[in-house]
Amino acid sequence: MREIDIVTPIKAYAYEELSDNDRSLVDAARRAIAGAYAPYSNFKVGAAIRLDNGLVITGANQENAAFPSGTCAERSACYYAGANYPDAKFDTIAIAAVEPSGKEIKSPVAPCGACRQALLEYEKLAGHKVPVFLVGSNEIYRLPSVASMLPLAFSEF
Ligand code: THU
Repeated sequence: MREIDIVTPIKAYAYEELSDNDRSLVDAARRAIAGAYAPYSNFKVGAAIRLDNGLVITGANQENAAFPSGTCAERSACYYAGANYPDAKFDTIAIAAVEPSGKEIKSPVAPCGACRQALLEYEKLAGHKVPVFLVGSNEIYRLPSVASMLPLAFSEF
């Protein structure tokens, strides 16, 4: 028997500590929340993806009366990016959210498992680590890659 420890290194930043580039991506994720359609959960999420062609693609969660038919902000953004800019590689991702009260969530928002798996696909296509900023009102987490958010990911074909 041997034990295997999996460690996720996270850097926690104040907004002011971020570089101009990273701050603008966080701003884009926060702005993207305005596009959320979340009449059922009232939990609104925005995602922003900087591509290596310089464009920033955004998405927001879209809910549906038939609940499973809705989609998360992260997948709305990454599938739009993939569908419209198939040759562009992902560079950096930021995710932000507001709680039903309309206030930004305090602790950084973390993507659901399905979105981690979806984003991982594009990190693989990029061929390098894609840092992820998870935005909260008190601090902003920087993860070094999508893979670091999804240990033991399915990636067998
Ligand atoms: N949601 C996202 O958009 N991203 C996440 O990472 C977690 C959850 C959405 C799905 C649903 O519309 C609402 O938040 C509540 O789960």
